[in-house]
Amino acid sequence: MIIEAEGITYSYGDLVAVDHISFEVDKGEIIGFLGPNGAGKSTTVKMLTGQLNPHEGHVRVLGHDVAKEPKAVHERIGVCFEEKNLYPRLSIRENLQFFADLFDVEIDIDALLKKVDLIKWADDKVETLSKGMQQRVMFARALINDPDVLFLDEPTDGLDPISADSIRKIILAEKSKGKTIFLTTHNMSEADMLSDRLAFINEGRIVALDTPENLKLRLGKRMLKVKVRTEKGFKEESLPLDHKDTPDRAKELLENRNIATIHTQEATLDEVFIKLTGRKLEQ
Ligand SMILES: Nc1ncnc2c1ncn2[C@@H]1O[C@H](COP(=O)(O)OP(=O)(O)O)[C@@H](O)[C@H]1O
Ligand SMILES: [Mg+2]
Repeated sequence: MIIEAEGITYSYGDLVAVDHISFEVDKGEIIGFLGPNGAGKSTTVKMLTGQLNPHEGHVRVLGHDVAKEPKAVHERIGVCFEEKNLYPRLSIRENLQFFADLFDVEIDIDALLKKVDLIKWADDKVETLSKGMQQRVMFARALINDPDVLFLDEPTDGLDPISADSIRKIILAEKSKGKTIFLTTHNMSEADMLSDRLAFINEGRIVALDTPENLKLRLGKRMLKVKVRTEKGFKEESLPLDHKDTPDRAKELLENRNIATIHTQEATLDEVFIKLTGRKLEQ
């Protein structure tokens, strides 16, 4: 196991932000933490990376206890958080050089910039870049020590769709190299697209953890809803879209010419989330 969290808990005063969370992440896996604002995602990432020490429980990353051996962990992980911590007056290249020096690593900055598609702007000051480009610099920064594990807290939050997509491609490229990735998001389609497994997080707890496909299969159904006129009024029939008998039954209903209304209902992670928590993911 690359990441092992066991009963981790963190409170800000009386507020329990993360409440006894446990999970494991395997090598090469992308695990998504999906939940609304305030669910406890960032607090969780901070405990996983050693920025906050859990009040209860333990985190092991690459076999090291994060609270006890932070240095051994930091050398082999990359983090990309919501807070921008780049130097706006320095160029992209200077920023990356600065962080490489901090890590005391020799890096090929050009190769890194090519990876995140920023080579053309290498000597531009960070303050002149768009939000999407700044996020790619943050990403390059996270990759500076060629980490085995990446922790990404809302990596596409607030980005335009094209920038968000380019970040997702970089994430998938890192996964294809065998990196393990922990990702938080409140964006359902992003979680669906990127995660091998997905944890739904609400009020500091994991309420479900499975593959996106299983979550939808287990808890949401694609349905065909047909309202049929009968002698006594109306009757609604719900036909599971993926059932083998549905096409025949739908044909039968259509041929009887008694249909009042007909519509399909898609299973979405949002629906599954609401079912589990009574809360919406996005307002
Ligand atoms: N530094 C802090 N001081 C007090 N409360 C905080 C602090 N950071 C987060 N919280 C609270 O903890 C809860 C979880 O926050 P957070 O982990 O940031 O959630 P998320 O990242 O899912 O939006 C929220 O209710 C938030 O208001
Ligand atoms: Mg957050």
